[in-house]
Amino acid sequence: MSFLELSGLSKRFGPLTVVDDVSLSVERGHVVCLLGPSGCGKTTTLRLIAGFTTPDAGEIRIDGKVISSKGSSVPPELRQMSMIFQSYALWPHMTVRENVAYGLQLRKLPKEKIVSLVDDILTTTQLAPLAERYPGELSGGQQQRVSLARALVVEPQTLLLDEPLSNLDSNLREEMRFEIRRLHDAYRYTTIYVTHDQSEAMTTADVIVIMNKGHIEQVGSPEDIYERPASEFVARFMGGANILAGQVLDERTVDCGGLKLKCANAGHAAGSSVSVSIRQHTIAVTTQRPTDEMNWAAGTVVRSVYLGAHRDYLIELASGERIRAVTSTSNPVENGQAVWAHLPPEFCRILTR
Ligand SMILES: Nc1ncnc2c1ncn2[C@@H]1O[C@H](COP(=O)(O)OP(=O)(O)OP(=O)(O)O)[C@@H](O)[C@H]1O
Ligand SMILES: [Mg+2]
Repeated sequence: MSFLELSGLSKRFGPLTVVDDVSLSVERGHVVCLLGPSGCGKTTTLRLIAGFTTPDAGEIRIDGKVISSKGSSVPPELRQMSMIFQSYALWPHMTVRENVAYGLQLRKLPKEKIVSLVDDILTTTQLAPLAERYPGELSGGQQQRVSLARALVVEPQTLLLDEPLSNLDSNLREEMRFEIRRLHDAYRYTTIYVTHDQSEAMTTADVIVIMNKGHIEQVGSPEDIYERPASEFVARFMGGANILAGQVLDERTVDCGGLKLKCANAGHAAGSSVSVSIRQHTIAVTTQRPTDEMNWAAGTVVRSVYLGAHRDYLIELASGERIRAVTSTSNPVENGQAVWAHLPPEFCRILTR
Protein backbone atom coordinates (compact mmCIF):
# COMPACT_ATOMS: atom_id res chain seq x y z
CA MET A 1 0.00 0.00 0.00
CA SER A 2 1.35 3.43 -0.96
CA PHE A 3 1.15 6.46 1.31
CA LEU A 4 -1.11 8.48 -1.00
CA GLU A 5 -3.39 6.81 -3.52
CA LEU A 6 -5.65 8.37 -6.12
CA SER A 7 -8.00 5.90 -7.75
CA GLY A 8 -10.30 6.60 -10.67
CA LEU A 9 -10.40 10.28 -9.74
CA SER A 10 -12.56 12.51 -11.97
CA LYS A 11 -13.66 16.11 -11.77
CA ARG A 12 -16.01 17.94 -14.13
CA PHE A 13 -16.74 21.63 -14.48
CA GLY A 14 -20.00 21.83 -16.44
CA PRO A 15 -19.54 19.82 -19.64
CA LEU A 16 -15.74 19.78 -19.30
CA THR A 17 -14.00 16.77 -17.70
CA VAL A 18 -10.92 18.42 -16.25
CA VAL A 19 -9.55 15.41 -14.34
CA ASP A 20 -10.35 12.20 -16.16
CA ASP A 21 -10.07 8.86 -14.35
CA VAL A 22 -6.72 9.56 -12.73
CA SER A 23 -5.09 6.77 -10.72
CA LEU A 24 -1.72 7.27 -9.06
CA SER A 25 0.25 5.81 -6.16
CA VAL A 26 2.68 8.05 -4.30
CA GLU A 27 5.27 6.49 -1.99
CA ARG A 28 6.02 8.08 1.38
CA GLY A 29 8.90 10.55 1.17
CA HIS A 30 8.91 10.83 -2.61
CA VAL A 31 8.75 14.00 -4.68
CA VAL A 32 6.20 13.45 -7.43
CA CYS A 33 5.95 16.08 -10.17
CA LEU A 34 2.74 16.62 -12.09
CA LEU A 35 3.97 17.91 -15.43
CA GLY A 36 1.89 18.96 -18.40
CA PRO A 37 0.78 21.84 -20.59
CA SER A 38 -1.41 24.69 -19.42
CA GLY A 39 -4.99 23.65 -18.71
CA CYS A 40 -4.30 19.89 -18.46
CA GLY A 41 -5.71 19.70 -14.92
CA LYS A 42 -2.62 19.91 -12.67
CA THR A 43 -3.92 22.54 -10.26
CA THR A 44 -7.33 20.87 -10.10
CA THR A 45 -5.66 17.55 -9.20
CA LEU A 46 -3.66 19.30 -6.46
CA ARG A 47 -6.80 20.99 -5.12
CA LEU A 48 -8.54 17.62 -5.01
CA ILE A 49 -5.64 16.21 -2.97
CA ALA A 50 -5.68 19.23 -0.63
CA GLY A 51 -9.44 18.91 -0.18
CA PHE A 52 -10.39 22.32 -1.61
CA THR A 53 -12.43 20.52 -4.26
CA THR A 54 -14.41 17.29 -4.09
CA PRO A 55 -14.27 14.65 -6.84
CA ASP A 56 -17.21 13.62 -9.05
CA ALA A 57 -15.90 10.06 -9.05
CA GLY A 58 -13.08 8.09 -7.52
CA GLU A 59 -11.27 8.21 -4.19
CA ILE A 60 -8.21 9.60 -2.47
CA ARG A 61 -6.65 7.56 0.32
CA ILE A 62 -3.89 8.38 2.78
CA ASP A 63 -2.37 5.44 4.65
CA GLY A 64 -5.33 3.39 3.41
CA LYS A 65 -7.96 5.75 4.83
CA VAL A 66 -10.37 7.41 2.41
CA ILE A 67 -10.10 11.21 2.69
CA SER A 68 -12.06 12.11 -0.46
CA SER A 69 -14.80 10.36 -2.36
CA LYS A 70 -17.95 11.43 -4.14
CA GLY A 71 -20.05 13.16 -1.50
CA SER A 72 -17.67 12.86 1.46
CA SER A 73 -14.49 14.70 2.19
CA VAL A 74 -12.12 15.27 5.12
CA PRO A 75 -11.72 19.08 5.41
CA PRO A 76 -8.35 20.52 4.27
CA GLU A 77 -7.25 21.55 7.78
CA LEU A 78 -7.48 17.95 9.00
CA ARG A 79 -5.37 16.46 6.19
CA GLN A 80 -1.93 17.35 7.61
CA MET A 81 -0.96 18.94 4.32
CA SER A 82 0.67 22.28 3.51
CA MET A 83 -0.04 23.84 0.14
CA ILE A 84 2.07 26.58 -1.40
CA PHE A 85 0.30 28.59 -4.05
CA GLN A 86 1.90 30.38 -6.92
CA SER A 87 1.63 33.71 -5.10
CA TYR A 88 3.41 33.36 -1.78
CA ALA A 89 0.72 35.15 0.23
CA LEU A 90 3.08 36.28 2.99
CA TRP A 91 1.72 38.67 5.60
CA PRO A 92 3.23 42.04 4.67
CA HIS A 93 2.96 43.51 8.18
CA MET A 94 4.75 40.58 9.83
CA THR A 95 8.49 39.94 9.90
CA VAL A 96 9.97 36.77 8.42
CA ARG A 97 10.05 35.23 11.91
CA GLU A 98 6.43 36.16 12.60
CA ASN A 99 5.28 34.85 9.21
CA VAL A 100 6.94 31.51 9.86
CA ALA A 101 5.69 31.29 13.46
CA TYR A 102 2.09 32.11 12.55
CA GLY A 103 0.92 28.57 11.77
CA LEU A 104 2.39 27.26 15.03
CA GLN A 105 0.71 30.02 17.05
CA LEU A 106 -2.65 29.04 15.53
CA ARG A 107 -1.98 25.57 16.93
CA LYS A 108 -1.38 27.06 20.36
CA LEU A 109 2.00 25.40 20.88
CA PRO A 110 4.05 26.51 23.95
CA LYS A 111 6.10 29.64 23.32
CA GLU A 112 9.55 28.02 23.81
CA LYS A 113 8.60 25.20 21.45
CA ILE A 114 7.58 27.72 18.77
CA VAL A 115 10.86 29.62 19.14
CA SER A 116 12.98 26.50 18.77
CA LEU A 117 11.02 25.11 15.77
CA VAL A 118 11.15 28.48 14.02
CA ASP A 119 14.88 28.90 14.72
CA ASP A 120 15.56 25.45 13.26
CA ILE A 121 13.67 26.03 10.04
CA LEU A 122 15.12 29.55 9.59
CA THR A 123 18.60 28.04 9.84
CA THR A 124 17.86 25.25 7.37
CA THR A 125 16.35 27.64 4.86
CA GLN A 126 19.26 30.07 5.40
CA LEU A 127 16.85 32.79 6.49
CA ALA A 128 18.22 33.38 10.00
CA PRO A 129 20.02 36.63 9.06
CA LEU A 130 16.79 37.96 7.55
CA ALA A 131 14.49 36.97 10.43
CA GLU A 132 13.58 40.52 11.46
CA ARG A 133 12.93 41.84 7.96
CA TYR A 134 9.51 42.38 6.39
CA PRO A 135 8.50 40.64 3.12
CA GLY A 136 8.72 43.96 1.26
CA GLU A 137 12.42 44.08 2.12
CA LEU A 138 13.18 40.67 0.56
CA SER A 139 14.04 39.50 -2.95
CA GLY A 140 11.67 37.13 -4.78
CA GLY A 141 13.82 34.11 -3.97
CA GLN A 142 14.00 35.04 -0.30
CA GLN A 143 10.21 35.44 -0.15
CA GLN A 144 9.94 32.05 -1.81
CA ARG A 145 12.08 30.55 0.93
CA VAL A 146 9.92 32.19 3.62
CA SER A 147 6.83 30.59 2.11
CA LEU A 148 8.61 27.23 2.06
CA ALA A 149 9.76 27.67 5.67
CA ARG A 150 6.21 28.55 6.68
CA ALA A 151 4.85 25.44 4.99
CA LEU A 152 7.52 23.15 6.44
CA VAL A 153 7.49 24.41 10.04
CA VAL A 154 4.08 22.90 10.75
CA GLU A 155 5.53 19.47 9.88
CA PRO A 156 2.97 18.48 7.27
CA GLN A 157 2.73 14.86 6.20
CA THR A 158 2.31 16.06 2.65
CA LEU A 159 3.60 19.16 0.92
CA LEU A 160 1.70 20.42 -2.12
CA LEU A 161 3.49 22.92 -4.35
CA ASP A 162 1.72 24.60 -7.26
CA GLU A 163 4.27 26.15 -9.66
CA PRO A 164 6.25 27.46 -6.70
CA LEU A 165 8.97 29.04 -8.84
CA SER A 166 6.88 30.67 -11.54
CA ASN A 167 7.37 34.21 -10.22
CA LEU A 168 11.15 34.05 -10.18
CA ASP A 169 13.65 35.03 -12.85
CA SER A 170 15.45 32.20 -14.61
CA ASN A 171 18.68 32.30 -12.55
CA LEU A 172 16.81 32.21 -9.30
CA ARG A 173 14.47 29.50 -10.55
CA GLU A 174 17.41 27.27 -11.26
CA GLU A 175 18.95 27.91 -7.86
CA MET A 176 15.62 27.32 -6.07
CA ARG A 177 15.09 23.95 -7.79
CA PHE A 178 18.17 22.61 -6.07
CA GLU A 179 17.12 24.36 -2.88
CA ILE A 180 13.72 22.66 -2.86
CA ARG A 181 15.35 19.30 -3.47
CA ARG A 182 17.89 19.97 -0.69
CA LEU A 183 15.13 20.92 1.78
CA HIS A 184 13.19 17.86 0.77
CA ASP A 185 16.18 15.64 1.40
CA ALA A 186 16.53 17.21 4.86
CA TYR A 187 12.88 16.67 5.85
CA ARG A 188 11.61 13.99 3.42
CA TYR A 189 8.00 15.12 3.34
CA THR A 190 5.93 13.44 0.69
CA THR A 191 5.71 16.18 -1.93
CA ILE A 192 3.47 16.74 -4.92
CA TYR A 193 5.02 19.38 -7.14
CA VAL A 194 3.11 20.92 -10.02
CA THR A 195 5.00 22.49 -12.89
CA HIS A 196 4.90 22.85 -16.65
CA ASP A 197 8.69 23.16 -16.86
CA GLN A 198 10.41 19.94 -17.95
CA SER A 199 13.82 20.67 -16.49
CA GLU A 200 12.33 21.79 -13.19
CA ALA A 201 10.58 18.43 -12.98
CA MET A 202 13.76 16.53 -13.93
CA THR A 203 15.74 18.30 -11.17
CA THR A 204 13.27 17.88 -8.33
CA ALA A 205 11.30 14.68 -8.96
CA ASP A 206 11.71 11.05 -7.97
CA VAL A 207 8.69 10.31 -10.14
CA ILE A 208 7.27 12.39 -12.99
CA VAL A 209 3.60 12.16 -13.98
CA ILE A 210 2.87 13.52 -17.45
CA MET A 211 -0.68 14.82 -17.77
CA ASN A 212 -2.57 15.65 -20.96
CA LYS A 213 -6.17 16.84 -21.15
CA GLY A 214 -7.03 15.58 -17.68
CA HIS A 215 -5.56 12.10 -17.99
CA ILE A 216 -2.19 10.58 -17.18
CA GLU A 217 -0.01 9.81 -20.23
CA GLN A 218 2.95 8.28 -18.39
CA VAL A 219 4.35 7.78 -14.90
CA GLY A 220 8.06 7.11 -14.44
CA SER A 221 11.47 8.25 -13.29
CA PRO A 222 12.97 11.25 -15.11
CA GLU A 223 15.11 8.79 -17.11
CA ASP A 224 12.09 6.66 -18.06
CA ILE A 225 10.13 9.64 -19.24
CA TYR A 226 12.98 11.15 -21.21
CA GLU A 227 14.61 8.03 -22.65
CA ARG A 228 11.52 5.83 -22.99
CA PRO A 229 8.51 8.04 -23.73
CA ALA A 230 5.30 6.00 -23.87
CA SER A 231 3.53 8.17 -26.41
CA GLU A 232 4.17 10.74 -29.07
CA PHE A 233 2.69 13.36 -26.75
CA VAL A 234 5.31 12.61 -24.07
CA ALA A 235 8.18 12.60 -26.57
CA ARG A 236 7.09 15.94 -27.99
CA PHE A 237 6.37 17.49 -24.61
CA MET A 238 9.79 16.59 -23.17
CA GLY A 239 11.44 18.15 -26.23
CA GLY A 240 14.64 17.32 -28.06
CA ALA A 241 13.15 14.48 -30.12
CA ASN A 242 12.62 13.89 -33.82
CA ILE A 243 9.30 12.25 -34.59
CA LEU A 244 8.94 10.31 -37.85
CA ALA A 245 5.67 8.83 -39.05
CA GLY A 246 5.73 5.27 -40.40
CA GLN A 247 4.24 1.79 -40.72
CA VAL A 248 5.32 -1.25 -38.73
CA LEU A 249 7.01 -3.86 -40.99
CA ASP A 250 7.78 -6.47 -38.39
CA GLU A 251 7.74 -6.18 -34.64
CA ARG A 252 10.82 -3.98 -34.28
CA THR A 253 11.13 -2.47 -37.75
CA VAL A 254 9.29 0.58 -39.02
CA ASP A 255 9.23 1.96 -42.56
CA CYS A 256 9.35 5.76 -42.37
CA GLY A 257 8.86 6.95 -45.95
CA GLY A 258 11.38 4.43 -47.30
CA LEU A 259 13.77 4.77 -44.38
CA LYS A 260 13.76 1.45 -42.51
CA LEU A 261 14.39 1.86 -38.81
CA LYS A 262 15.17 -0.97 -36.42
CA CYS A 263 13.81 0.09 -33.03
CA ALA A 264 14.39 -0.73 -29.37
CA ASN A 265 10.83 -1.70 -28.47
CA ALA A 266 8.16 -4.00 -29.90
CA GLY A 267 4.45 -4.44 -29.27
CA HIS A 268 2.77 -2.85 -32.28
CA ALA A 269 1.09 -5.01 -34.93
CA ALA A 270 2.58 -5.21 -38.44
CA GLY A 271 0.92 -2.68 -40.74
CA SER A 272 -0.13 -0.30 -37.99
CA SER A 273 0.58 3.41 -38.30
CA VAL A 274 3.02 4.56 -35.64
CA SER A 275 5.60 7.22 -34.89
CA VAL A 276 9.26 6.68 -34.22
CA SER A 277 10.99 9.06 -31.84
CA ILE A 278 14.74 9.57 -31.77
CA ARG A 279 16.55 12.10 -29.57
CA GLN A 280 18.56 14.71 -31.41
CA HIS A 281 21.74 14.10 -29.42
CA THR A 282 21.83 10.34 -30.18
CA ILE A 283 22.16 10.86 -33.95
CA ALA A 284 25.58 10.69 -35.58
CA VAL A 285 26.32 12.57 -38.81
CA THR A 286 29.00 11.62 -41.36
CA THR A 287 29.93 12.27 -44.99
CA GLN A 288 31.27 8.69 -45.38
CA ARG A 289 28.91 6.32 -47.15
CA PRO A 290 27.97 3.56 -44.67
CA THR A 291 28.47 -0.12 -45.53
CA ASP A 292 25.23 -1.22 -43.91
CA GLU A 293 21.92 0.46 -44.85
CA MET A 294 19.92 -0.24 -41.69
CA ASN A 295 19.13 2.88 -39.63
CA TRP A 296 21.19 5.10 -41.92
CA ALA A 297 19.35 8.01 -43.51
CA ALA A 298 20.77 9.82 -46.52
CA GLY A 299 20.13 13.55 -46.61
CA THR A 300 21.42 17.05 -47.11
CA VAL A 301 22.47 19.51 -44.44
CA VAL A 302 20.18 22.52 -44.70
CA ARG A 303 21.41 24.27 -41.57
CA SER A 304 24.57 23.84 -39.55
CA VAL A 305 24.96 25.90 -36.37
CA TYR A 306 28.03 25.98 -34.13
CA LEU A 307 26.95 26.27 -30.48
CA GLY A 308 30.29 26.08 -28.70
CA ALA A 309 29.76 22.84 -26.82
CA HIS A 310 28.11 21.11 -29.79
CA ARG A 311 26.87 21.50 -33.34
CA ASP A 312 23.21 21.57 -34.32
CA TYR A 313 22.31 20.23 -37.78
CA LEU A 314 19.04 20.34 -39.66
CA ILE A 315 19.07 17.56 -42.26
CA GLU A 316 16.57 17.08 -45.06
CA LEU A 317 16.01 13.39 -45.81
CA ALA A 318 15.22 11.89 -49.20
CA SER A 319 11.56 11.62 -48.08
CA GLY A 320 11.45 15.41 -47.62
CA GLU A 321 11.20 15.10 -43.84
CA ARG A 322 13.68 17.06 -41.76
CA ILE A 323 15.49 15.86 -38.67
CA ARG A 324 17.70 17.65 -36.19
CA ALA A 325 20.96 16.18 -34.93
CA VAL A 326 23.06 17.59 -32.11
CA THR A 327 26.61 16.27 -32.33
CA SER A 328 30.14 17.02 -31.19
CA THR A 329 31.89 19.90 -32.95
CA SER A 330 34.62 17.76 -34.55
CA ASN A 331 34.50 17.09 -38.33
CA PRO A 332 31.98 19.83 -39.10
CA VAL A 333 29.75 19.50 -42.16
CA GLU A 334 28.74 22.60 -44.11
CA ASN A 335 25.35 23.64 -45.46
CA GLY A 336 24.38 21.89 -48.71
CA GLN A 337 26.63 18.87 -48.16
CA ALA A 338 25.29 15.34 -48.63
CA VAL A 339 25.47 13.34 -45.40
CA TRP A 340 24.41 10.10 -43.79
CA ALA A 341 22.77 10.25 -40.40
CA HIS A 342 22.91 7.20 -38.16
CA LEU A 343 19.83 6.67 -35.97
CA PRO A 344 21.02 4.00 -33.50
CA PRO A 345 18.37 1.26 -33.02
CA GLU A 346 18.77 1.35 -29.24
CA PHE A 347 17.53 4.97 -29.25
CA CYS A 348 14.70 4.58 -31.80
CA ARG A 349 11.37 4.10 -30.04
CA ILE A 350 8.10 3.05 -31.60
CA LEU A 351 5.23 5.15 -30.25
CA THR A 352 1.49 4.99 -30.58
CA ARG A 353 0.38 7.83 -32.75
N1 LIG B 1 -13.60 26.43 -11.01
C1 LIG B 1 -13.57 26.16 -12.32
N2 LIG B 1 -14.66 26.27 -13.10
C2 LIG B 1 -14.65 25.96 -14.41
N3 LIG B 1 -13.55 25.54 -15.07
C3 LIG B 1 -12.42 25.41 -14.36
C4 LIG B 1 -12.36 25.72 -12.96
N4 LIG B 1 -11.09 25.49 -12.54
C5 LIG B 1 -10.41 25.08 -13.62
N5 LIG B 1 -11.20 25.03 -14.72
C6 LIG B 1 -10.77 24.58 -16.06
O1 LIG B 1 -10.21 23.30 -15.92
C7 LIG B 1 -9.10 23.13 -16.80
C8 LIG B 1 -7.88 22.69 -15.98
O2 LIG B 1 -7.52 23.72 -15.11
P1 LIG B 1 -6.25 23.62 -14.16
O3 LIG B 1 -6.17 24.90 -13.40
O4 LIG B 1 -6.34 22.38 -13.36
O5 LIG B 1 -5.06 23.50 -15.22
P2 LIG B 1 -3.49 23.51 -15.02
O6 LIG B 1 -2.97 22.25 -15.58
O7 LIG B 1 -3.17 23.82 -13.60
O8 LIG B 1 -3.04 24.72 -15.96
P3 LIG B 1 -1.89 25.85 -15.77
O9 LIG B 1 -0.59 25.20 -16.14
O10 LIG B 1 -2.28 26.90 -16.77
O11 LIG B 1 -1.94 26.33 -14.35
C9 LIG B 1 -8.95 24.43 -17.52
O12 LIG B 1 -9.54 24.31 -18.79
C10 LIG B 1 -9.69 25.43 -16.65
O13 LIG B 1 -10.20 26.47 -17.42
MG1 LIG C 1 -2.27 25.45 -12.65
